[in-house]
Amino acid sequence: MIREVISYPNPKLRTVSKDVKEFDESLHALLDDMYETMLHKNGVGLAAIQVGIALNALVINPVNEEGEQNKEDLLEVINPQIIESEGVIIFQEGCLSVPNFYEDVERFQKITVKFFDRNGDEHTKTYEDFMAVALQHEIDHLRGHLFIEKLSYLKRKKFEKEWKKQAKAKA
Ligand code: CO
Repeated sequence: MIREVISYPNPKLRTVSKDVKEFDESLHALLDDMYETMLHKNGVGLAAIQVGIALNALVINPVNEEGEQNKEDLLEVINPQIIESEGVIIFQEGCLSVPNFYEDVERFQKITVKFFDRNGDEHTKTYEDFMAVALQHEIDHLRGHLFIEKLSYLKRKKFEKEWKKQAKAKA
């Protein structure tokens, strides 16, 4: 089922999400819905809070070298903890909760994450480049943060201006 994605400045996006305790059918339904919603919106990542559910769950489905987004590359991440991080990468980010705005953001180039899968099995894996960036972006959502908070003063100003223009055009 496709769920509604909430957008900035909805205050719900500032919620600090809670750990998943039950790896049950309702979690599986949430993850399935998040996947469906993400694809429907042409996204590559989505955190549960973006569909209004304050649980530490996120999905990422990268686009491969052929430009395809295959479900076999889908990563489901529950209760993530970044346990190691190194390097710097600057990557242009966007967000389904901040539609039509893209800006360069600085992140760690490589991170090691401890997390659970949908069945409650624990994993520790290292990710680089795009996957590292996407994970940091989505984990920020779980902590109540958006990528626009990481912009410099001037870029943030530029965002506010474009956002107002967009809101006006919609009204
Ligand atoms: Co986002």
